[in-house]
Amino acid sequence: MGRLDGKVIIVTGGATGIGLGISSRLAREGASVVIAARNAARGTAAAAGISEAGGEALFVATDVAKETDCEAVVAATVERYGKLTGLVNNAGIFPRSTLEATTEELWDQIHAVNLKGPFFMCKHSVPHMRASGGGSIVNIGSANSYIGLPHLFAYSVAKGGLVTLTRNLSNALAQDRIRVNFLNPGWVITDMEIEIQALEGHDAEWIENAGRNLPLGRHQVPDDAAWACVFLLSDESSQTSGDLLNVDGRGPR
Ligand SMILES: NC(=O)c1ccc[n+]([C@@H]2O[C@H](COP(=O)([O-])OP(=O)(O)OC[C@H]3O[C@@H](n4cnc5c(N)ncnc54)[C@H](O)[C@@H]3O)[C@@H](O)[C@H]2O)c1
Repeated sequence: MGRLDGKVIIVTGGATGIGLGISSRLAREGASVVIAARNAARGTAAAAGISEAGGEALFVATDVAKETDCEAVVAATVERYGKLTGLVNNAGIFPRSTLEATTEELWDQIHAVNLKGPFFMCKHSVPHMRASGGGSIVNIGSANSYIGLPHLFAYSVAKGGLVTLTRNLSNALAQDRIRVNFLNPGWVITDMEIEIQALEGHDAEWIENAGRNLPLGRHQVPDDAAWACVFLLSDESSQTSGDLLNVDGRGPR
C-alpha cells in the first residue's frame, strides 16, 4: 500500500532536478504521475525510468508559459487516467539579474514560467479536481519568495507572487475541498544549480563547504522536497491548506 494509491498528479518540470525527485517519489508511493515538461528526450526518459521501477507515468510535452499547453496536459491526464487529484507547480527558471540589469524581456520570461505557468495550470486543473471531489496543489517556491537576493530580483518577485497565489486560492477553493500549499525546497545542488554557481566562480569545493555551513549541516536533496510533497498530496494533510512549508534546514526566520 502506497501513501498516494489512487492519486493522479501532474508535476511540471518533472523530468530533471527537484521535479524528477518528486515525480519518482510520488510514483513509488502509488500515484499515477504525469510529467509536464518541455524537453521531450528528458521527459520520455524520466517516464520510462519510473515505469521500469514499477510505477505509472506519462510524459506530455508542455511549455507552462503557454496556456494552450497547460490546458492540453490537463486534458491528456484526464483522458488517460479518468481524473486529476493533484498538481505540483515545480517548473522554474532562475537566471541571476539585479534590478537595473533586468530587461523587460527577462522580467517577462521569468514571470511567464515561475508565476503565469502556475496560474494557467491551476486554472485548468481546478475544474477536474472539483469534479473528483477535491484535490491538492503544491507550489514550489523558494527562500527568495520572502525577501530575496538582490541578484535574483525578478525571480524573487515572481516567487513572492506564488505565495499570494497560494493563499488566495487556498481561501477561494476550500469549499471545493481543494487544498493549496507552498513548499520551499531549500538549496538543492541540481545540474542547473552547478552551472549557475560555476558562472559565479564557485567550484565543487566551495559548494560543498557552503553546504557544511548550513544550520542542519548539508544541502537539501530532491527527496527532502519529495517527501514533503507526498504528505501535502496525500489525505494525511487533509486539514492543511494555505501553508508555507520550509524544507530548507534553516530553522526559525
Ligand atoms: N535548486 C535549488 O536550490 C532551488 C531552490 C529553491 C527553489 N527551487 C525551485 O525548484 C524548482 C525546480 O528547480 P530545480 O532546481 O530542480 O531546477 P531544474 O532546472 O533542474 O528544473 C526546472 C525544470 O523546469 C523545467 N522548465 C523550465 N521552463 C519550463 C517551461 N516553460 N515549461 C515547462 N517546464 C519548464 C526545466 O526544463 C526543468 O526540467 C524551480 O521552481 C526552482 O525555482 C530550486
